Amino acid sequence: MKIRAATKTDLGNVFRLEQGAFGEHGYPDFFIRQAMDLWPGTLLVAESEGGLVGYALGGMGEAREQGWILSLAVDERQRGLGIGKALLQRLCRDLTDAGCTELRLTVHPDNPARGLYQSLGFVEESREPDYFGPGEPRQRLLRRG
Ligand SMILES: CC(C)(COP(=O)(O)OP(=O)(O)OC[C@H]1O[C@@H](n2cnc3c(N)ncnc32)[C@H](O)[C@@H]1OP(=O)(O)O)[C@@H](O)C(=O)NCCC(=O)NCCS
Repeated sequence: MKIRAATKTDLGNVFRLEQGAFGEHGYPDFFIRQAMDLWPGTLLVAESEGGLVGYALGGMGEAREQGWILSLAVDERQRGLGIGKALLQRLCRDLTDAGCTELRLTVHPDNPARGLYQSLGFVEESREPDYFGPGEPRQRLLRRG
């Protein structure tokens, strides 16, 4: 398994991974295309012999030191093999190398992925009950680097 920056030809498969993981809460394909223009170095894909098995998107906030993990998704059939963790570790490293001293993300309080984030040093910063609209709570996690 190899992790690399996405290219334009990956975008269809990145979108399929996003849809498979998040369904109607996923980013639309045109957002992913524009994210590649905004943050080309931190749109990462995990590739195995059979094709793309996961992806991660990071971006920078208004201040360059504010890094955001915007998406992390692994193909359902390939979960539990360490791919998500490898993608997240690489994305955190790349954002830190780009000058981000604070890394943030949001996660549903019931999402078991919280354990993955905590194991990599993320702690709860705040909680919003209606972050994505009524009944859509999210915790904001922060890691200082
Ligand atoms: C979250 C996600 C990316 C993790 O990818 P993955 O490749 O399955 O994760 P890994 O195999 O690298 O596991 C990393 C660690 O997190 C834990 N973990 C990850 N997902 C888990 C889950 N659904 N349930 C329980 N534990 C989980 C693993 O036990 C592992 O712990 P360890 O390092 O102590 O062994 C994947 O489950 C996914 O795509 N989920 C749907 C999308 C999503 O919720 N993304 C996060 C949004 S904030």
